[in-house]
Amino acid sequence: MKKITIAIDGFSSCGKSTMAKDLAKEIGYVYIDTGAMYRAVTLYALRKGLITSEGIDFDKLREEMDSIMITFVLDPESGRPQTYLNGECVEKEIRTMDVSSHVSPVAAQSFVRTAMVDLQRIMGEAKGVVMDGRDIGTVVFPDAELKIFVTASDEIRAKRRYDELTAKGEACDFQEIKHNIQERDRIDTTRKISPLRQADDAIVLDNSQMTIDQQKQWLLEAYQKAAAE
Ligand code: DC
Repeated sequence: MKKITIAIDGFSSCGKSTMAKDLAKEIGYVYIDTGAMYRAVTLYALRKGLITSEGIDFDKLREEMDSIMITFVLDPESGRPQTYLNGECVEKEIRTMDVSSHVSPVAAQSFVRTAMVDLQRIMGEAKGVVMDGRDIGTVVFPDAELKIFVTASDEIRAKRRYDELTAKGEACDFQEIKHNIQERDRIDTTRKISPLRQADDAIVLDNSQMTIDQQKQWLLEAYQKAAAE
């Protein structure tokens, strides 16, 4: 079967990365979590004190963009890629509520998007890639052979995120998580540059009532069809 590009876009916390990761592993493709890249930039800004209660120092962040190196390294134990920021594994640190509540305004900046999109295109140029995010099918790889747009109700998404954080032992509040998801949806869909929207040729997957196994099967069939065409 020919190698294709698979773009998986959709709302926050609707299980995109789990299904994208599983598919990539199953078919031997490279998986790129583009949300992790925007999260790593946000973590960098937080650590450098560029994000305070006063706001975000975007001028300083723009100056520092060349000092931010983001890479993915396959974890031999889990077989899954881990996010590295300037050589340090930050997979856990980028998933905290602190990063989640600041990532959308950072990801809305054009200088941040340009740098990340350039990197994403390099990472995916050889095809054989599953990339998940918000603008993969519309901006990063508009010619992707398979585009999926994933959605689920905000109540269900908040519940999944709550369960995920609780399982990791992180203290969290359901209402705060739900509010954070709704707020990110609002910023992601209304921002001026590359807002989250369904590509005209994307297939919609509403997974509110689906199990992980059902999604896996659905996605595998969509891939087999697209790769055979
Ligand atoms: O998928 P995620 O929740 O880890 O993404 C984190 C944030 O990054 C989310 O608020 C939107 C933004 N993002 C983006 O703007 N473009 C992408 N391709 C991926 C994520």
